[in-house]
Amino acid sequence: MDCKIVTISGDGIGPEIVREACKVLDKVAQVYGHSFHYKEVLMGGCSIDAYGVPLTDEALNTARESDAVLLGAVGGDVGNSRWYDVAPNLRPEAGLLAIRKGLNLFANIRPAYLYKELSGACPLKKEIIGDGFDMVIMRELTGGLYFGERHTEEADGVLQATDTLTYNENEIRRIAIKAFDIAMKRRKHVISVDKANVLDSSRLWRKVVEEVAKDYPEVKLEHMLVDNCAMQLVMNPGRFDVVLTENMFGDILSDEASMITGSIGMLSSASLNESRFGMYEPSHGSAPDIAGKDLANPIATILSAAMMLRYSFDLDREAEAIERAVQKVLTEGYRTPDIMSEGCTRVGTVRMGDLIAERI
Ligand code: IPM
Ligand code: MG
Repeated sequence: MDCKIVTISGDGIGPEIVREACKVLDKVAQVYGHSFHYKEVLMGGCSIDAYGVPLTDEALNTARESDAVLLGAVGGDVGNSRWYDVAPNLRPEAGLLAIRKGLNLFANIRPAYLYKELSGACPLKKEIIGDGFDMVIMRELTGGLYFGERHTEEADGVLQATDTLTYNENEIRRIAIKAFDIAMKRRKHVISVDKANVLDSSRLWRKVVEEVAKDYPEVKLEHMLVDNCAMQLVMNPGRFDVVLTENMFGDILSDEASMITGSIGMLSSASLNESRFGMYEPSHGSAPDIAGKDLANPIATILSAAMMLRYSFDLDREAEAIERAVQKVLTEGYRTPDIMSEGCTRVGTVRMGDLIAERI
């Protein structure tokens, strides 16, 4: 297979983790007889430095014309970077929101899986961890509070800021369908998370999700209020299979879910549109404090590359080869600093990439 991949290394640890993911993809190409062609485009702080904006139209178009996008991370140290001395729509993260919207990547899939080898790093008690957990957060990514109208005004000397949360039924339906489709390939259980006891948008969410559920009689649907969900994630994580939720709730819950896996450095993600096109990125940020020091964990990005093979290129066997290689390296006791524990072998970013590539 011949695939055009746009890479967006971005800022902070972005370049070094994307480099390792490409190393692993190149090994897959060699072993399974594919060709992956990469084209790098700028987004985030590095694009601000080069062009004055976090995402140029040209970069967006290059991404649009590719088969898939592999992203590292964007952004810097908010308190301590010139990238944040400008209007919000010109800051690094605005590039990320613009590419999500511009490519219509409405379905954000964030798996949270506890590797047995890392259960020591899980902050939950053993009796709560039980047999571990394996869930997928399906987060709506191009609507809600993130993209609603917003403004700040001053009236009679009092500052007032407004953000709006709007969803239409079509936006809810298409993400719900993705969640049920994924549930069919898993344990057939969807928990739809909302705040229907307060918000109109959540009441509509519930109604539409129930309609979609009728087309999936094999899938069990439960509704859960978002505050209860935040609690259940740390009380009984094993009960979750597919969590379906809107943009802002998904942002918060996916960080919570990732933390109970032991390290945010392990979590991959995929953002998909209606077709097979997607953008793949680790769930973590750009970690400027450790950038360029060979300390970053490249596994989340490498697993994101595996998701790219599975969802955009239909290369399941190759995706599994990457996932198996990651599992093997962990079983053999290799750890980057963020997941290091006693008796294991500490390795850097580059060595971790080499070890995984060697096992493909
Ligand atoms: C995420 C991040 C982004 C978000 C930020 C960087 C805008 O937290 O991908 O979860 O809020 O969506
Ligand atoms: Mg987030």
